[in-house]
Order: sequence, then structure tokens, then C-alpha cells
Amino acid sequence: MPLDTSLEGARFLDRNDDLGGYRDRFLIDDPDLIYLDGNSLGRVPKDAIALMDRLIRHQWGNRLIRAWNDEWMGLSRRIGSKLAGLIGARPDEVIIADSTSVNLFKLIAGALKERPGRRKIITDSVNFPSDIYILKAVADMIDPAYELVVLPADNGFAVSEESLERSIDEDTALVLLSHVLYKSSYLYDMERITQIAHARDALILWDLSHSAGVVPMTCHDTGVDLAVGSTYKYLNAGPGAPAFLYVRDDLQSRLINPISGWFGHRKQFYFDTEFEPAYGIDRYLTGTPSILSLAMIEPGVDLALEAGMEPIREKSVNQTEYLVSLWENELAPLGFTLNSPRNPARRGSHVSFGHEEGYRIDQAIREEKQVISDFRTPDNIRLGIAPLYTTYEELHTAVHALREVVHTGSFRQYSDVIKGVT
Ligand SMILES: Cc1ncc(COP(=O)(O)O)c(C=O)c1O
Repeated sequence: MPLDTSLEGARFLDRNDDLGGYRDRFLIDDPDLIYLDGNSLGRVPKDAIALMDRLIRHQWGNRLIRAWNDEWMGLSRRIGSKLAGLIGARPDEVIIADSTSVNLFKLIAGALKERPGRRKIITDSVNFPSDIYILKAVADMIDPAYELVVLPADNGFAVSEESLERSIDEDTALVLLSHVLYKSSYLYDMERITQIAHARDALILWDLSHSAGVVPMTCHDTGVDLAVGSTYKYLNAGPGAPAFLYVRDDLQSRLINPISGWFGHRKQFYFDTEFEPAYGIDRYLTGTPSILSLAMIEPGVDLALEAGMEPIREKSVNQTEYLVSLWENELAPLGFTLNSPRNPARRGSHVSFGHEEGYRIDQAIREEKQVISDFRTPDNIRLGIAPLYTTYEELHTAVHALREVVHTGSFRQYSDVIKGVT
């Protein structure tokens, strides 16, 4: 049956949405704002507001330094073990620490040291730039003889499994890929690619920044070696909240943390001058965590655990499918291309529409229509779907806003010089 893409149809879908009630668990103080950038910065869970107040008044305000022993010392581990439930990891395989970029540094260095003698490192050209920069920097620092292979996207949006299979060989130490690609939303087959890497005994490190909280996965059972990811996108932890890292349990005693700070020490408060790594996942901590930001991760993780990853994914797929149908009817005739996979099984939770005037169009819908999407060079307007609060009506309105600013030509008044955060 063709999808009803009318406004009434959108409202019908919202009324019948099993996850619809979760929207009310987020702070939405401007009902007219259409927010489709939860793939970059998620909305505020209401529980985070009360928690921040308690944290400041009671823990920091009243308990002061005592709060470290009461609550804060175990927080990176406690929240990590909850987050593990969202990525199919064991509770002792995940910890919250640092930023995604810093965690990449730590795990890349650890992985390269774990595969001495192998000279090849593989990633793709559509990976997030920070991942590629850090990969290169760490490889150069450890041994300039490493060969960094940045595979070009050859299946439209990502690297095909065939080229990965051809490139990963017995000399490959590490493969680093983003599970969902930040521009195209292409969703790699984690199981298949992990198998390909393991068939050559290479380690694999997945960046889960655009999949954690929207795509179910089974990191441990799939045999994933290493992973990192951000918490401020679909996990709604707040701007710059610390990231998470996963190291499969049997690797933890073998993989060093190259930033061996005192929080990763086995007996931190003995103040020994010799570094002895903590047992297990704690060894990947470095220095004092940003407690206020770290604590804000828990409300968003709790919401996702409560809603369940399968229902979240089901709604995400339904909504990206809906958006693709709207594109076909409303946007393709105006020159917008679909820069994301058509197959929902290979698509994450955002959809990118291409248009040569994408940057100006993105500004126009923000300024004139109160629709917030984002822009990624060269031509991608990304619409992010956060199933816990995105409505079908928002998607409908956003597509009509895109249509209108192109139809009237109002986007032409905006500059095409990229400025600030896009
Ligand atoms: C896929 C991916 N990896 C890494 C990063 C870098 O994260 P951070 O700036 O928190 O280190 C981002 C940031 O958006 C990202 O999207």
C-alpha cells in the first residue's frame, strides 16, 4: 500500500506511534521548532534537569569532596555498564571516558602495539575526519613505516565488502570504520566486516557515534574487538559530554592504554611512581572525569534502555522510509538527490538529501521556517531522526519547508560561504 504522505497521514502515524509518549520526557519549550539535528546534539531529557539540580545542590554543594567516594569514583564504570546494554556488550566491557577523539587515540595505539610486525592500517575516505587524522597521527608516532590505506567509497556511499575483503590481508594490524557514516548514513554490516577482519587476524575498531542508541547491535557476541562512540548525539547527554569506549573482555589484559594516567592505575591513591594498570576496563581511564557532564549521560541511556533498542530501530526505519517517500514525491522533482541508501537495512537514522545549493537551503529553512537540520559538504542536508522525540508531522513539515524555499528561491539571499557550526 503506498504511504499516505499528507499532513493528515503524518498525524495519523503520530497518533499510532507506540513510542510517541517518550517525546514528553524531553524538554521541548518551543513547540514550533522542528528539530531534526538530534544526530548531532540530542534534546534535553527532563530527568537531566532534576539530576543536575541534585548534583549541584546535594553532591557538589553539600557533600563536596566526600561525593567522590559516595558516588563519583564509580560513575564512569556504572554508566558505562548501563550503556553496554545498548550496544550488546557485557557490563564490564564499556567505560565512559574523555572524548571520542581521545578514545580513538588510546584504542588505536593499544591495537597497533597488540599487532606488532603488521604494517597495514585500513579505513575509508568517508570516515569522520577526526578518525582519519588520529589514525594517521598515531601510526606516524609509533612507526612512520605504517601504510595507512584510506579506501575510497566504491558503492555509492561507503566501501563495498568486496573491496574490504580484497584490502584486508595478513599484514593488516587494524581496521577502523564508522558503523553508520556521518554523511550518507550508510550502515555497515558489522557482523560480516568483523568476520572479514578476523579471517586475517586483524583487529577491528568501530566508531559507533552515529549508531549507538538508534541501531541495535551485539558487540560482544559479534566478536567486535574495540569500539568508541559519542553520547551527545542519539544518547542525549548534552554538549561535549564524555564518550564511551568498549574493549572486548579477553583483550583488556593485552591492550595498553597509552595515556596511562592515575585514574587508570590499579591503586590510584597509593600514589606510586610506577604505573600499574588497573584490572579490566578501568585501565582505559586517564584523568579526573568531568563529573557534571558525565552524570548527564545516565538519563538519556535510561530512556533508551526503557524504550528498548528494537522498538527504537523499528520506528527509526519507519521514519527514514517515510522521509524517503516524501523525498520521492516532493523533493526529487526539485532537483534534490537521495544521498543515503534506499535499502533501510543499510541505512542509519538520518537521511541526507543532496542539492547543489544545500548550504543556502539549510540556512533558509532554519531562518524562515524554524526547521533545524544540518549541512555537510559538499551538498548534504542531513535530517536526523531521534525516534524518542521526532514526529512524523515534523518530517512532513520539514520536507515542505525544503520545497518552499527552493520553489520561491528565498534561499538565494543567504551566503554560500561556510561559517561557524553547520
Ligand atoms: C563519527 C564521529 N566520530 C568522531 C567524532 C568526534 O567526536 P569528539 O569531537 O567528541 O571527539 C564525531 C563528532 O561528531 C563523529 O561524528
